[in-house]
Amino acid sequence: MKSLLLVYHSQSGASARLARAAWNAARAEEGVAVLLRRAWDAGSADLAQADGLLLVAAENSGTLSGSMKDFLDRVYYPGLERELVIPYALLLSAGNDGRGAARQARRILSGFPFPPAAEPVILRGAVTDEHRVAAAEFGQAFAAGLAMGIF
Ligand SMILES: Cc1cc2nc3c(=O)[nH]c(=O)nc-3n(C[C@H](O)[C@H](O)[C@H](O)COP(=O)(O)O)c2cc1C
Repeated sequence: MKSLLLVYHSQSGASARLARAAWNAARAEEGVAVLLRRAWDAGSADLAQADGLLLVAAENSGTLSGSMKDFLDRVYYPGLERELVIPYALLLSAGNDGRGAARQARRILSGFPFPPAAEPVILRGAVTDEHRVAAAEFGQAFAAGLAMGIF
């Protein structure tokens, strides 16, 4: 059984809706247990149990939202001490851009060092049914890849 940690932060509810869609699809995948945690509540103990990390957050002022950055800052040294190397995937909600947050997250995570399991997905504007489908497919694909040992 593989373990996928889904960490999200959401201010207005947009990232939360995407996270829920990804979570529902990922946990439907056989052979994967998915733990859903808000970024404020997630910590290194959660990460230590994980075989994969799915991050869902917004771009704020051209960067990753503060609480997701805070989560990554808090787990950095414990991760290094445990010599954790797990694949990650990133799903971003953004008003009209998202590239700054994607760039920053990639740079941060390369220092852990965690390999990307996929290119970041950026969903722009208000959450639509198409966004929910895209988030679900993203979560399902990551979970399936973990279950199959692809990453
Ligand atoms: C303080 C703040 C800064 C933002 N900065 C950006 C930005 O730089 N680029 C962008 O595309 N969207 C930006 N947005 C829009 C959010 O990324 C977008 O509304 C997103 O869906 C919010 O998701 P959340 O409310 O779940 O956190 C910003 C929103 C806020 C509140």
